[in-house]
Amino acid sequence: MQQADIGLIGLGVMGANLALNIADNGYRVAVFNRTVAKTREFYEEAGRLKDQIIPCDTLEELARSIRAPRPIILMVKAGEAVDEQVAALKPFLAKEDIIIDAGNANFHDTVRRLAELGPNDPTFVGMGVSGGEEGARHGPSIMVGGTAESYARIEPVLTAISAKFEGFPCSALLGPDGAGHFVKTIHNGIEYADMQMIAEVYGLLRDGLGLAPEAIGKIFEKWNTGPLNSYLIEITAKVLQATDRKTGKPAVDVILDSAGQKGTGRWAAIEAQMLGIPATAIEAAVAARSISSLVKERSDASAAYGELGSAKLADKGLAFIDALEEGLLAGKIAAYAQGFDVMAGASKEHGWNIPLATTARIWRAGCIIRSQFLDEIAAAFEGREGKNLLLAPAFIDRMKTGSQSLRRIVAEAALAGLPTPALSAALNYFDGYRQARGSANLIQAQRDFFGAHGFKRIGEEGDFHGPWSDAG
Ligand code: 6PG
Repeated sequence: MQQADIGLIGLGVMGANLALNIADNGYRVAVFNRTVAKTREFYEEAGRLKDQIIPCDTLEELARSIRAPRPIILMVKAGEAVDEQVAALKPFLAKEDIIIDAGNANFHDTVRRLAELGPNDPTFVGMGVSGGEEGARHGPSIMVGGTAESYARIEPVLTAISAKFEGFPCSALLGPDGAGHFVKTIHNGIEYADMQMIAEVYGLLRDGLGLAPEAIGKIFEKWNTGPLNSYLIEITAKVLQATDRKTGKPAVDVILDSAGQKGTGRWAAIEAQMLGIPATAIEAAVAARSISSLVKERSDASAAYGELGSAKLADKGLAFIDALEEGLLAGKIAAYAQGFDVMAGASKEHGWNIPLATTARIWRAGCIIRSQFLDEIAAAFEGREGKNLLLAPAFIDRMKTGSQSLRRIVAEAALAGLPTPALSAALNYFDGYRQARGSANLIQAQRDFFGAHGFKRIGEEGDFHGPWSDAG
């Protein structure tokens, strides 16, 4: 039998769909799953793609079924399962082979796994894959971290299976070792912020303007034809107009308001903090999911504090809905500026050289945050890599007008007692960023007062201390 071009371990939804995508693109793929029955079932259900698939019952058989040098994709649960698979696989592989971890790994683990490999072990590549089930099957966005040699060897298949934006493949080598998984983590952090800001706007339309899900869905549908056009806005419109089969009610109305999180959003916030780079909209989005999980406490607090009552937004009318559209876009610009800044900072810190314009370009299709907007971001980074998006000429005018709407909706929401943690964080970031003279001079004075930490004087070199003892 003709050997496979590539192997894939882990036939969960993402792995199975990725394997079918590979097969559909004319590559032969050898597959293995810990539960043999699942491998068989996958093969039997592969229909016309069966000829392209080699089901394997053991790792030894998998290794034998792939043409050397063997690229093998791991699509198993992030964490220990990856270490276990790498250890189990290594005895059957040669130095020239490549293990590609396609899960949502923490980049620190990817760096460690690479460091743990001996001189005769196979190479390791950390690959972020975004797009959910549909993306895995028909074209995900692929963020690769590894050496140029390993990428060159796997590039044809990755290019073939990736999403395309106007013919441009959404797969790229973004740097060595952990760079690919780091970029995927920040992608997810931005995804959290984007989803949270959309949810906040939904909350204002529901609780402020008193609109029903279907009507809100129609508003998002309209917005999806304008500058907010994106996958997340598109699915929001669909979700809001869906009906629950059991009750006939709008589906969103029967869903418990407690958001899950697997950890990647939190990692993005942690990494931003570790680097000392403000990513407040991402942090707010993570915290908002945590608050959402306090279902019982929120109910008790609601009973204790009551509603604000009179200050609702119902009389604000259509102009307020337009402000929501423009304000959401402004919030999004600030959140993306933060995410890209974190990548620029990490890139510098780890010597990765992550190409930001390319990153934006491979996010234009396939991934969860895909949008037209990313095309504009890619253009903004062209020739000015590493600079904050808020200073890109193309975004300055947009933010000048957009921030006024953002300010208005955040202010009205605050008066109505409706939470907008991510939108407010985005606005405050923007206001802090554009303020030439902030208030941290006072913090420096306080630090010097209680700890003699010293401060700089405006326009003078050297460290100084204040006259605090004179102040009594
Ligand atoms: C993607 C998604 C994907 C997954 C997240 C969701 O890019 O395809 O981001 O990775 O949906 O892990 O994460 P939470 O469960 O934390 O929301």
